[in-house]
Amino acid sequence: MNSPLVRVENLQVMFAMRGGLVLPGKAPKMIHALDGISFDIQRGEILAMVGESGCGKTTLARAILRLITPSAGKIFFNQRDITLLKGTSLRNLRRHMQMIFQDPYESLDPRQSIYELLEEPLLIHYPDITQNDREVQVFKALEASGLHPAREISARYPHHLSGGQRQRVAIAAAMILEPEFVVTDEPVSMLDVSIRAEILKLMLDLRDLKNLTYLFITHDLSLAWMISDRIIVLYLGKIVEIGSTQDVIHHALHPYTRALVSVIPLPQPGIQKQQIILEGDTPSPLDIPAGCRFLLRCWKWRQLNCPAVCKEKEPILQAYGCESHKVACHFAEGA
Ligand SMILES: Nc1ncnc2c1ncn2[C@@H]1O[C@H](COP(=O)(O)OP(=O)(O)OP(=O)(O)O)[C@@H](O)[C@H]1O
Ligand SMILES: [Mg+2]
Repeated sequence: MNSPLVRVENLQVMFAMRGGLVLPGKAPKMIHALDGISFDIQRGEILAMVGESGCGKTTLARAILRLITPSAGKIFFNQRDITLLKGTSLRNLRRHMQMIFQDPYESLDPRQSIYELLEEPLLIHYPDITQNDREVQVFKALEASGLHPAREISARYPHHLSGGQRQRVAIAAAMILEPEFVVTDEPVSMLDVSIRAEILKLMLDLRDLKNLTYLFITHDLSLAWMISDRIIVLYLGKIVEIGSTQDVIHHALHPYTRALVSVIPLPQPGIQKQQIILEGDTPSPLDIPAGCRFLLRCWKWRQLNCPAVCKEKEPILQAYGCESHKVACHFAEGA
């Protein structure tokens, strides 16, 4: 089997609470944003990561891209341990991994023309190429992202462009260094519904053309279903389920995933399924409960008359049914 492009082993990220009152002699309160996360990303695949707000999706992406340093665990890229990389080695790595953010209004510097925005990464990573070659690359990247005529677009500033065009520029900027791995963090959620499909299609076309590997972050499970090969479901900083898109959508095992799946529309008309509405709020990552962290919202726990094991023992992520489908639940079972 081919080696994975990305491998994450037992990753943990903690943040000191911002603005909290720290008493003398006491350590600041810690936010447990991610805990014991392990998974691989295979070359050429689209791995979707889903979960509600605050579950740690962006933090995980930032740790993999080494925009933050994890508190514990390891990250490998192309089989190389990149967990503690610094300085020039880290800068060289950045060429191979890029991120496309949610908000094209925030991610583009309003003072830079589109040409300057796209030229900048080339100046940093390839200072020796000629101005002429840079221009060719910038125009090529704009054209490949569906922005024509490239010369005219490149002279504009972000505020001259529509939301969809800005996201195309952000995609062009991410692609200009020809990365192998691209993380997209809710790339279409801020866009009008009418242009979401176009931007998704562009990203999929670029994947085929450039043989890219994507980590696609979204809170929208139906979007993950549409475009991904595999899905990771995160809950309060832990993976609760991971498997092929087919398995996660059609044979969801974790009560949390089953609730998420139950509210997405099925393509087969006439088939009714029972919606599972989750009650209560996600606990605070400052105060992770013992045992299963999903317990207080778990409909299944109540259905089973509140078994003690769920309160006492944290379930570990393990294979269920087949090696590639894993779930962290003491009472996992299919729908
Ligand atoms: N720099 C930081 N300092 C302190 N806490 C942080 C920091 N970044 C994230 N957090 C906290 O870590 C947890 C995970 O946040 P994260 O942004 O990764 O969630 P998310 O799944 O991306 O949420 P959303 O869907 O809203 O984007 C949250 O509790 C958040 O408040
Ligand atoms: Mg986020």
